[in-house]
Amino acid sequence: MKAVILAAGKGTRMGPLTENRPKVMLPVANRPLLEHIILTLKIAGIRDILMVTGYCKEKIEDYFNDGSKLGVNIEYVEQKAQKGTADAIASAKNLMDERFLVTNGDVLAASSDIKNLLKADGDVIIGSKKVASPEEYGILYVKGKRVEKIVEKPKSSTSDIANAGIYVFSPEIFDAIKNTMPSPRGEYEITDSIQQIIDSGKHAGFVLLEKWQDIGFPWHVLEVNEMMLTDGTDIQWEIRGEVEPLATLKGNVSVGKGTIIRNGSYIIGPVVIGNDCDIGPNCFIRPATSIGDGVRIGNAVEVKNSIVMNATHIGHLSYVGDSIIGEGCNFGAGTKIANLRHDGRTVMVELAGRKLNSGRRKLGVIMGDDVHTGINSMMNVGAVVAGGACIDPGEYVKGVYGK
Ligand code: UD1
Repeated sequence: MKAVILAAGKGTRMGPLTENRPKVMLPVANRPLLEHIILTLKIAGIRDILMVTGYCKEKIEDYFNDGSKLGVNIEYVEQKAQKGTADAIASAKNLMDERFLVTNGDVLAASSDIKNLLKADGDVIIGSKKVASPEEYGILYVKGKRVEKIVEKPKSSTSDIANAGIYVFSPEIFDAIKNTMPSPRGEYEITDSIQQIIDSGKHAGFVLLEKWQDIGFPWHVLEVNEMMLTDGTDIQWEIRGEVEPLATLKGNVSVGKGTIIRNGSYIIGPVVIGNDCDIGPNCFIRPATSIGDGVRIGNAVEVKNSIVMNATHIGHLSYVGDSIIGEGCNFGAGTKIANLRHDGRTVMVELAGRKLNSGRRKLGVIMGDDVHTGINSMMNVGAVVAGGACIDPGEYVKGVYGK
């Protein structure tokens, strides 16, 4: 069976993280999110993939090429304007003549879940998951094994079964898409096309997925990073660089080629460190941290449960907790990030003009690429720092900063 991956969107809810890359290319355990999806499909037996790309499409195509490095075949089709998920799936019309799988590029399930979807009977099969906030999802109203109704992001709902954004369709979905009208948010939504299939009396089935993660907001990237580092199957825990004799590595730690871990570094896995990094001396790297390529973590720096992207330098006396730090950033000595509110409440974050409750007690900053911080600068919980921002020495940053 072939699979279509929808990867044309920007991911505006990711704030500065998607200024220079699409959401699907955000690094999770040092691989793009999309790579984890492809590997999951491969384990489930799918080798032929059609990728629908749009925003920053060259970043995706340059990285994956024809897929041979991952042992799959990838073709690309461009969705010129992002007019909605139904429109994105319509780009696959001439290439799908049998049943096929579709997955959003921003959801991760287990291979066993994908296998269960492929085995299920029905004209349409919808992967689904019970959720705490139905208003954020497409919601399924079911009777027995049938889906009777699907409603996109209802204001209130009597069902908590969400559309997980993973489906098995037959080619008749393309006729339904042709007859789909724009939704109130002005998009062609695949959920409306599915409703047409249901209305025509066909059987829409659903499969409850065991392991599913939706990656809508930056803190979801941290959650998936932790999940992948803790029980992902595609990480090779190898030391390919140099570890000086007085450095301590505990638990699962992966060290890339050309990387040096200097004496006095204390690293507690799971931690992945990319190629050509310079780590230590005397730093403390704590669990669930992913450090990209060409990163410098210097003396008396502590990093915890964070993603630090390529070529970022955190040279001395800094603390980074529960944060996502973009590429090419440079931290002045003594830069500190707060990651816990004094009042014990969950951390609020402002993204795309909305104040959102992250639901997390611990969350540091969301930082774009090429940010420079001055010495002794301080960032409050949930701060969002735009790419290219320059923070003054001693400056206190909170809320949205830069641009
Ligand atoms: C979608 C589903 C929702 C489901 C949720 C699960 C629709 C209409 N809604 O909502 O029912 O509960 O996923 O996470 O499908 N994309 C394109 N081209 C486009 C638009 C989107 O390729 O024109 C891609 C995006 O890059 C992304 C995926 O499709 O990977 C999902 O798009 P998004 O707009 O984020 O859908 P949701 O609002 O999350």
